[in-house]
Amino acid sequence: MHRTIELPARFFRSSLYCALIVAILAPAKVKAQESYLNPRLPAAQRVELLLKQMTLEEKIGQMCQYVGEVTKNAAGNKDEEVNYVVGIGERAQLIKAGRIGSFLKVPTYKEANFLQKLAEESRLKIPLLIANDAIHGHGMYEGAVTIFPSEIAMAASFDTQLAYDVAESTAREMRATGNHWTFSPNIDVVRDPRWGRFGETFGEDPYLVSRMGQAMIAGYQGKDFSGPDQVLACAKHFIAGGVAINGLNGAPADVSERTLYEIFFPPFQDAIKAGVYSIMPAHNEINGIPCHAHRQYLTGLMRQQWGFGGIYVSDWMDIERLCTVHNVAATEKDAARIAVLAGLDVHMHGPKFFDHIKAAVEEGMISSARIDDAARKILYAKFQLGLFENRYVEEARIQRTLLRKEHLATALDGARKSMVLLKNQNALLPLGRNIHSIFVTGPSADNQAMLGDWSRIQPAENVTTVLAGLKSAAAPGVRIDYLVCPGYRDLDEYALRKAQALAGAADVSVVVVGENSLRNNLQKTSGENLDRATLEVAGGQAALLQAVKSSGKPVIVVLINGGPIASEWMAKNCEAIIEAWEPGMFGGQAVADVIFGNYNPGGRLPVTIPRTVGHLQAFYNHKPSITHRGKFYQSESTPLFEFGFGLSYTQFRYDNLKLASHIGHQDDLTLSVAVENTGPQAGEEVVLVYLHQQVGSVTTPVKKLVAFERVELKAGEKREIKFTIPNGRFKIYDQDMKFVLEPGRFDIIIGNGLLQSTLTID
Ligand code: BGC
Repeated sequence: MHRTIELPARFFRSSLYCALIVAILAPAKVKAQESYLNPRLPAAQRVELLLKQMTLEEKIGQMCQYVGEVTKNAAGNKDEEVNYVVGIGERAQLIKAGRIGSFLKVPTYKEANFLQKLAEESRLKIPLLIANDAIHGHGMYEGAVTIFPSEIAMAASFDTQLAYDVAESTAREMRATGNHWTFSPNIDVVRDPRWGRFGETFGEDPYLVSRMGQAMIAGYQGKDFSGPDQVLACAKHFIAGGVAINGLNGAPADVSERTLYEIFFPPFQDAIKAGVYSIMPAHNEINGIPCHAHRQYLTGLMRQQWGFGGIYVSDWMDIERLCTVHNVAATEKDAARIAVLAGLDVHMHGPKFFDHIKAAVEEGMISSARIDDAARKILYAKFQLGLFENRYVEEARIQRTLLRKEHLATALDGARKSMVLLKNQNALLPLGRNIHSIFVTGPSADNQAMLGDWSRIQPAENVTTVLAGLKSAAAPGVRIDYLVCPGYRDLDEYALRKAQALAGAADVSVVVVGENSLRNNLQKTSGENLDRATLEVAGGQAALLQAVKSSGKPVIVVLINGGPIASEWMAKNCEAIIEAWEPGMFGGQAVADVIFGNYNPGGRLPVTIPRTVGHLQAFYNHKPSITHRGKFYQSESTPLFEFGFGLSYTQFRYDNLKLASHIGHQDDLTLSVAVENTGPQAGEEVVLVYLHQQVGSVTTPVKKLVAFERVELKAGEKREIKFTIPNGRFKIYDQDMKFVLEPGRFDIIIGNGLLQSTLTID
């Protein structure tokens, strides 16, 4: 599954490639001006043939990305963006003049075809790359599509095959609608859950983030994105936006070089190894340098050291912000020059970039080789994706692709796999035959908040809300009472009294609370550009929970949220808690399956849940000294729920951890452990393997995740699970920041301390 693509960068750099180009161009058997249109030639050769015919303007045009239909509505845009809006007439002229290379946010296939038609009328007929934020399904498309669980939910499944399948299906739906480039995966490691974009990420652990990110890249791009159902992936946002000051989107990040190398860089390094073809820098500055101007990281580190050969695309307005926000450029023209010299290839959104770059080249500030370099990578993607031959899409393909049976099956399977059962007092769940009436309430019980960010509202019949899921799965005769609770922000006394009364009249209550990150809705509580000052459930939801609880009947809390919810009151007082995250279009069905026992939950937390916002930062892989002196006044320092935690309706027993007591300095470690389902029913367990270095020349974490596998076991079944830990996982950055393996003793820890063994590396 985890196939890697051959990096074009290596190909471009090799002398073999240059020799090949010379040999091909010399005899000129095919007319030079036509040969790049010859589909039989390899993509890299076609690129060179085309580049030879392009003017400077056409090459810079490839670097310019414009927005689709949203630009029509200048009034709806924020002030800072009004100047960047270009009407469709002007855009049409620019496309025909070869001065636009790509688009983002093209809402329909008709518009995609329309834009491609204009591009075909340009001198060189270069097709457009069309990009979209299709991060857990093609949710920004204007039409009904498959909405999968969001990234944080996928991370909770600890199932890389799920991430692969979601990406593969998303790519298929994108290509069917004329889209070729997704701004996903988001491989930000998050250490500040106040960040409203938490749900877009795979959580706090760099290894889990890497594995899920690599799986998605493989699902999107396939071997080399040359297939008709593949798209370019984009690893974002480089770097450390998940630890920006106060969790505010785009605020400065001040992070030590050591933490960058240990925690934040590895997922990007691994994404490059997986062949990701584009990378997006972050809005924020890192240690005083805005990411969009970071030449040392973008070019020195990622291109030259790590071998990244794809496209850097700027984030929305971030080149301009070098001047308008960060003040590292006096003018927007300077900003454009600084960004391109730092390594940026594609400018997202806006018409002025073209003139700035053209002037900078003419003034000798940017070399034409730098422009060729950017255009070459963009054109390579277009040839490789097959766009010169096939730029249009037809309705018939859309009909047979969107919401395809296999996609829907993946969406349901993913929703089930990502559920984490956090509490189940007295085995309240699954509900038994003694339950005859259920009271359902909470602002997320019957709406589409469960779709998460980067999704438009879907047709109601395509989304199973929790209320709908419960109604359809409840046994005949079970009464379901529902109280509409519209407000995430406020709840009046009347609603609270009514909730209490209805809860009292039922056997059990299901209260669906959490966050709402659904795009473009007025009840939003988190998401892009909306961060959290508290990790408690927002607004009146805590009061609602308390009112329901005061009825004296048991309470099942269903959490719908991207970022973790930290509520000590809820954890102590409510009988059951299901962390459902943003489970996508079948979320309600998956929740009902867990509540009625049609599915045995097996998800695990991909994030540490602290007791309160005041306990931040809270992550499991901390250094040993964290609480050796300091304590919190009147509060414990342990988390509310640990990373990796999650209950099941069955029990698992671990034994027989087998590993060598010594390995050599360059050896990988193989180990195995037996896991047995000792309970009464089938279930899924996530086997987690952690590493701890006993003594090092620098401090090392109390433990770090080095392997995991989700396994399905029937009742009574026992299985030996094998792992190989690559030698590199034992390495650390020493005092000189050299990445070395320091011989010594290492603990291998299974689960959250279930079994442990020590090994010596000579
Ligand atoms: C976000 C990116 C996104 C881009 C395009 C930005 O505001 O930070 O993640 O890809 O918008 O929609």
